[in-house]
Amino acid sequence: MPVISVIGAQWGDEGKGKIVDLLAEKAMMVIRFSGGDNAGHTIVNNQGKFVLHLVPSGIFYPHTTCIIGNGVALNLAALLREMDDLKSKGVNDFSRLYISDRTNLIMPYHLLQEQLEEKALGPKAIGTTGKGIGPAFTDKVARYGVRAGDLLNPHYFRQRLNQVMELKNRIIVKAYGADALSVDKVYDEFMRYGERLNSHIKDTLMMVDEALKKDEPIMLEGAQGTLLDPDFGTYPFCTSSSPMGIVGAGIGPIHMKRVYGIFKAYCTRVGNGPMPTDLKDSTGDKLREIAGEYGATTGRPRRCGWFDGVAARYSNRVNGFTGAIVTRLDILDTFPKLKICTAYKIDGKTIEYFPADISVLERCEPVYEELPGWMTPIGDIREYSRLPINARRYIRRVEELCGCRAKIISVGASREQTIFRGDIY
Ligand code: GDP
Ligand code: IMO
Ligand code: MG
Repeated sequence: MPVISVIGAQWGDEGKGKIVDLLAEKAMMVIRFSGGDNAGHTIVNNQGKFVLHLVPSGIFYPHTTCIIGNGVALNLAALLREMDDLKSKGVNDFSRLYISDRTNLIMPYHLLQEQLEEKALGPKAIGTTGKGIGPAFTDKVARYGVRAGDLLNPHYFRQRLNQVMELKNRIIVKAYGADALSVDKVYDEFMRYGERLNSHIKDTLMMVDEALKKDEPIMLEGAQGTLLDPDFGTYPFCTSSSPMGIVGAGIGPIHMKRVYGIFKAYCTRVGNGPMPTDLKDSTGDKLREIAGEYGATTGRPRRCGWFDGVAARYSNRVNGFTGAIVTRLDILDTFPKLKICTAYKIDGKTIEYFPADISVLERCEPVYEELPGWMTPIGDIREYSRLPINARRYIRRVEELCGCRAKIISVGASREQTIFRGDIY
């Protein structure tokens, strides 16, 4: 039975939250498998408007089990704040929310270390979300991580903290000249989190296995986007976990039925790093203002630009999407002329691939093709055939460039503002 993954195909913020909330209606389980509270997934549904950072976007359905998977870096304080915020808006039932005992925790020293590192980088800073993501994933692979399951065994947790914080404090004091953190304080703080969250920490792999055996539909909720992947993205201007990796859910590839790549109908990026179609002009400003392109996590203005067909094809190539989901098509309603980037120009040569070297990518000039706009609101349209001909022409060109069919087209933030093209499960 279907395991469906929803993967950001650009630089994040493609609309994953909306799509997962929509498709989770038929899912028995939704798993967040990467990233952390650097993610900001906006959902507009019959219960209100929400921005989720850690809680999987299936939480609005009473039948859906929500799992924070082993591939996430989890800030427990942020999770508790998010749960309290949801409760204040009437979303009360967290009995189906589980945390994998293998999930690495974001610790106070990760937040501090990231601040110090970004400051030390000065003008070369990555422009992170400041959530401690990089240091937490670094410690995970360096084997200095502290995991959610450790909280269930306070004696072991204390030993682990003593060992790890000895090392972390040496770095904080000696390399950055900052003050050491108190092991006692961190221990007490995490024991308090444990009081509220321990009952949610489980060996979730057993739950996933059971769901697979029962043939229940499972959705994997991606965070960030492919072009922020540490391998495939614009390294080192990227995040620190793979936005594509099913490893973070504990599900083997044999179970994967659909892999949907979410593409915004144009491009955005928050933070630093190359983005060939970045529009630093009034058209970029118009896109940002119409679309309200401000970070859901940090509130920073997002850089906006035309759809990048080279990056999109590359994204499909490294993911192997079984279909595309195109979001925010309605944002283009008032543009008389639309541009799509079909190739890059560099040193007088035209290239159609996405360079690994960011010093090359930074010098790439987009080669644009111009398409006519449709100049009419499309937010109320629910059938593909009713879209204006120029909107369909735009979608066809996006499909050609990506190399996969658009199975869903989103024309507004709410659940119902969606056009389906055939069965997506
Ligand atoms: P995510 O991180 O991929 O979940 O995306 P964000 O939530 O950060 O940003 C996407 C924004 O677009 C949110 O404000 C959504 O409510 C909104 N959104 C999603 N799909 C559409 C759409 O088709 N049209 C419009 N106008 N807004 C959309
Ligand atoms: P969602 O899931 C957009 C960006 C940051 C920065 C870089 C590294 O909402 O699509 P990090 O804090 O991860 O170390 O920052 O990655 N970034 C995102 N950009 N959407 C996101 O998540 C992002 N998560 C991280 O802006 O450039
Ligand atoms: Mg977002």
